[in-house]
Amino acid sequence: MLGEVIKIKDFKEEKHVPTIDCPDIVKANEEFEVEVQVGKEIKHPNTVEHHIEWIDLFAQYEDDPNTVHLGRYIFGPVVGEPYVKAKIRLSKSATLIALSHCNIHGLWENTKKVTVN
Ligand SMILES: [Fe+2]
Repeated sequence: MLGEVIKIKDFKEEKHVPTIDCPDIVKANEEFEVEVQVGKEIKHPNTVEHHIEWIDLFAQYEDDPNTVHLGRYIFGPVVGEPYVKAKIRLSKSATLIALSHCNIHGLWENTKKVTVN
């Protein structure tokens, strides 16, 4: 199972965990900005040999079994930092899920709940 190999930890202790920064509460279907990055507290190496290859961003709506894929962001090592700012809109409350991939250390996940009112 994929969930069994995806790692999670506090982003202040572990450099691979993607962070999600956006408002906690938003209005229905109103655009807002989401910042997703790896290395907010502890910088991850960014070399050809060792780097964050990509981050995926998903939304999981409450009471909905289907997961919405919001974006896939691919980074070129050395030149491209693993940072992205996206504009999204939600129709109802959801959990945002960020998944990052290090070419050496695998998959890392973080989540953030966004309430729509
Ligand atoms: Fe790594």
